[in-house]
Amino acid sequence: MIVTIDGPAGAGKSTIAKRLAEELDFQFLDTGAMYRALTWHAQKSGVRLTAANELATHCLAVPLQIRSGTLWVEQVPMGAEIRTPEVSRDIHYVADNVQIRRHLVDLQRQWVCDANFVSEGRDQGTVAFPSAECKFFLTATPETRARRRQRQLQQQNLPSVYEEILAAQLDRDRRDQSRPEGRLLKAADAITIQTDEMSISEVVAQLANIVQVRLSPRMP
Ligand code: C5P
Repeated sequence: MIVTIDGPAGAGKSTIAKRLAEELDFQFLDTGAMYRALTWHAQKSGVRLTAANELATHCLAVPLQIRSGTLWVEQVPMGAEIRTPEVSRDIHYVADNVQIRRHLVDLQRQWVCDANFVSEGRDQGTVAFPSAECKFFLTATPETRARRRQRQLQQQNLPSVYEEILAAQLDRDRRDQSRPEGRLLKAADAITIQTDEMSISEVVAQLANIVQVRLSPRMP
């Protein structure tokens, strides 16, 4: 079974998708990490991000692998280096590039194949896996999402000015919603979960219940 979780930045998708996958004993795919890793790789390689063809040629040659839910690039597991504000600032060059998007969607389909997966991103229920059996759209108000992000940054002793976080996030929302292909969109058959007043554990429990119900008729 494929479970897709889409939604805007800061809705808690990665944490929730990872926990849900653990709870269901499914594999986990963080597709945002793929866009992040290619942005990071292009930055450190000095590729001109504004040159769409050059960027696509570079990115299509970067070997990506997934091992136990972690993304690896050239035999290196990706971590904090792909979650910096610089990567978030430039990610639209990669995410807006249709050649790169199609390549990443192909990889996602190869990796997921017929296995049990929770796959998380922006276009998983709409473009990558339109026939997934269980689709969720996780969201929260921009203010809630910015406050959550601020708390995460404070915990890491990183700069955390609320107004700046909110402005950067609104900018990313606008870009994510307006790209011609693979834009952030709720699939018609996705269930919306408004997470403002919910804890992570409550969201995971709610999603797990829904998935279990959909799984149960398949049991002998
Ligand atoms: O989920 P995360 O915030 O790590 O994603 C980073 C960025 O990658 C998003 O803002 C979006 O631009 C892009 N993305 C995408 N399609 C996906 C996942 C992420 O365009 N499936």
